[in-house]
Amino acid sequence: MGAATGEVIRLGIAGGGIMGERIAATVARLDGIEVRAIADANPAQRERLGQAFGCSAVATWEELVAGGEVDAVYVGLPNHLHAAAACAAAEAGLHVLIDKPLCETLAEGERILAAVERAGVRLMVGFSHRFHVELTTAKRMLAAGELGAPVLATDIIVDSAPDGPDWYWDRAAGGGVVQLQMHHSFDRLAWLLDSPIVRVQASVHERALRGAEPADVAAAVTLTFANGAVGTSAASFVTGYDGDGIVELAIQGTHGHVRIETWRSIEAQTARSAFDQHQRRDDWLGAEVAEFAAAIRERREPSVTGRDGLRALRVALAAFESARTGRAVDITP
Ligand SMILES: NC(=O)c1ccc[n+]([C@@H]2O[C@H](COP(=O)([O-])OP(=O)(O)OC[C@H]3O[C@@H](n4cnc5c(N)ncnc54)[C@H](O)[C@@H]3O)[C@@H](O)[C@H]2O)c1
Repeated sequence: MGAATGEVIRLGIAGGGIMGERIAATVARLDGIEVRAIADANPAQRERLGQAFGCSAVATWEELVAGGEVDAVYVGLPNHLHAAAACAAAEAGLHVLIDKPLCETLAEGERILAAVERAGVRLMVGFSHRFHVELTTAKRMLAAGELGAPVLATDIIVDSAPDGPDWYWDRAAGGGVVQLQMHHSFDRLAWLLDSPIVRVQASVHERALRGAEPADVAAAVTLTFANGAVGTSAASFVTGYDGDGIVELAIQGTHGHVRIETWRSIEAQTARSAFDQHQRRDDWLGAEVAEFAAAIRERREPSVTGRDGLRALRVALAAFESARTGRAVDITP
């Protein structure tokens, strides 16, 4: 396995779409990691990216994994392809940075984790929100006990993407708002509260967009955390207008609260202080990729693990079950 301490990590991009291109552009600004190959099913796209980033361009993730040119792979494929690509990459001895969601089913998740364990490679899930400056501020405050004991956490993600790829709203390809957007919420809430979600009660609104079969375009989930705190996670994702998203979060503890507008600001009020922080610049994707590279180089677990991906998936699957049955669903860690 390549990329020993001090060596440049050679990265392959499996899926050079919206996120794959952003990762490639991010890597180009970082030291110690380089994009060596890009795989994308779209010929014009892969040719353009190959030229832009001065690397080889192939048609499928299978060719990328078998090509022997890289030490690590970023999986930025439609969600239903995540498990196959991640397992094959691990089996080829490649480290894996996989975008969220980890995969579609628990069986796939267990397969990925087992493949990674057997191969002794690193696996990181791209829960990018964890690297945003306003969220790291909130995490520091919660971990230091500045808000006291958390009692409520409520999260909303509202988005529209008129130019998004069709698969975003195609359940068969891993689309729908729960798989595409709510994993961020399930992960960031459990991470911030340092407590897993153990019970959900969910309602889902389904609608056919882009001519696909009906998919979940809105979901509202009531949450109970292992530490007893309660919360909500609500998300919707449509196609009909081009607007700025709303990604907001409020957490209250016994001694204070934070209110976060992701990508914009954090407002905090505690027994000791009250302040607003507004963001001017934040290289959150650079921080995420740098953490992946550091974990490889330092031969340690990354700060976001495959288990974290599986934990968010369990909540998503429980939310689907709850919406289907009309009952609350318990999640055993
Ligand atoms: N962390 C974040 O903030 C964030 C934001 C958006 C998307 N995502 C995640 O990133 C991943 C990619 O999403 P996206 O928005 O870039 O989608 P996208 O559709 O823009 O990109 C996917 C690319 O994969 C290519 N592809 C499909 N099948 C292929 C195959 N067999 N071999 C090679 N290439 C293939 C497509 O041509 C496409 O260009 C998804 O898992 C999504 O959930 C994360």
